[in-house]
Amino acid sequence: MARLVAVSNRIPLGDNPSGGLVVALEDALRTSGGLWVGFSGETVEEPSDDLAFHEGAAFGRASFDLTPEDHETYYLGYSNSVLWPVCHSRADLMRIVPEYLDGYRRVNERIARLLVPHLKPDDRIWVQDYQLFPLAQELRKLGVTAPIGHFLHIPFPGPTDCATLPNPDELFTWLSHYDLVGFQAQRDLDNFAASARSLSDFAQLSEDRFRIAGRDMRAGVFPIGIDAEAFIAEAEGAREEDRMRSLTGAQIMIGVDRLDYSKGIPQRFRAFQALLDGDPSLTEQVMLLQIAPPTRESVDAYQQIREETEHLAGRINGQFATVNWTPIRFIHRPIPRHELAGLYRQARIGLVTPLADGMNLVAKEYVAAQDPADPGVLILSRFAGAAEQMPEALTVNPHDTADMAQAMRQAIDMPLEERRDRHAALLRCVLDHDVGWWSAAYLEALAQARA
Ligand code: ADP
Ligand code: F6P
Repeated sequence: MARLVAVSNRIPLGDNPSGGLVVALEDALRTSGGLWVGFSGETVEEPSDDLAFHEGAAFGRASFDLTPEDHETYYLGYSNSVLWPVCHSRADLMRIVPEYLDGYRRVNERIARLLVPHLKPDDRIWVQDYQLFPLAQELRKLGVTAPIGHFLHIPFPGPTDCATLPNPDELFTWLSHYDLVGFQAQRDLDNFAASARSLSDFAQLSEDRFRIAGRDMRAGVFPIGIDAEAFIAEAEGAREEDRMRSLTGAQIMIGVDRLDYSKGIPQRFRAFQALLDGDPSLTEQVMLLQIAPPTRESVDAYQQIREETEHLAGRINGQFATVNWTPIRFIHRPIPRHELAGLYRQARIGLVTPLADGMNLVAKEYVAAQDPADPGVLILSRFAGAAEQMPEALTVNPHDTADMAQAMRQAIDMPLEERRDRHAALLRCVLDHDVGWWSAAYLEALAQARA
């Protein structure tokens, strides 16, 4: 069996990773073995010209450092101040700075150079996410002939958003060097085809085969999953002290997200405020536990979302709190997974209400963690990739405060039988399309793309 070499921007070298990509890839590599290469998280003035290898995992791990300038231009800059906002329908937050794109190209070229000496002829290379779009082109320039696939964890922008990029044509050239590009949802594949058609030299050859700038490649939909069995075991085994005891016995609504403007946290808080405003009998009966570790803090838009959410939570708590009850508890740090599983299980409502999201693994984790005999209710944004797979959730438009408040009310009042029925269907999806299914389906398609 050919070795799997996965490359991602970030490789977790410590505990408690947050972010769908690292959680899923860790699960996938634990089962299949192989090598995972990524950024160590360290910036140094003179990074080594070889990868650093790390022991202590069921698979090989190798990392590289970045210079402060590369971190600024490649990671904070082009990746997270250009591509991220454009892919999440927030072109208004994009900052086009020429040095960003130079840094992004330079780092991808360097990663290719670091990787090549460690590749074996029959490896399969699986590149993850938007930080590394140019990597296949750079590897091909260095003579790599192995199959190279890409998986995009975030949404792919439609033609209007794509056209706001400083280099839309180059984006499609980068993608054309992959044998297979995988997307989270059908909407992303549709956006890819529509955007490539309008912005590049593009032809669709069949349902999954495309020609861009004279190169043939494939693309398909592979919705990412979680290690459902393991997560269920984690939730069932959660110790009493890992669960939160609410002093007032209030029902818990839980939100778990990186503190990102795409996650719709202010919209969620406003809907909760509208719920409390509309029904004084809910005082001390329900609380919102929001766990949101900050990320990408040196980017302005992330500082703003932190200020906005803290301010809003303070205002809502000031408006409604009693001596015994704080309506919103807002926690800004990562939580160990077993503790998280226990909190999901205890929460009567899971709030997954992003304004845009590739998949959203929290939706799947919440479902897996429930007690099937007395499950909670998932409220899910129609803009999460997960909504295509999980129609039995209460689907909401996160921009519509009244719609979300109404869904919260419906979830609070939902009879046990309906909760069980909805949960059973959702759990089936989470079990059938788990992370093992995702990586196997993708890697099988990559093998076929080459054949
Ligand atoms: P994204 O990839 O955009 O961060 P996902 O919802 O797909 O969004 O993935 C988030 C992952 O990170 C989930 O596995 C979730 O459990 C984990 N996570 C998010 N916040 C925390 C936190 N505070 N503590 C621990 N894990 C977290
Ligand atoms: O899934 C989207 C993603 O950007 C991943 O690529 C990344 O690992 C995760 O979110 C967390 O983001 P960051 O590594 O920038 O903190």
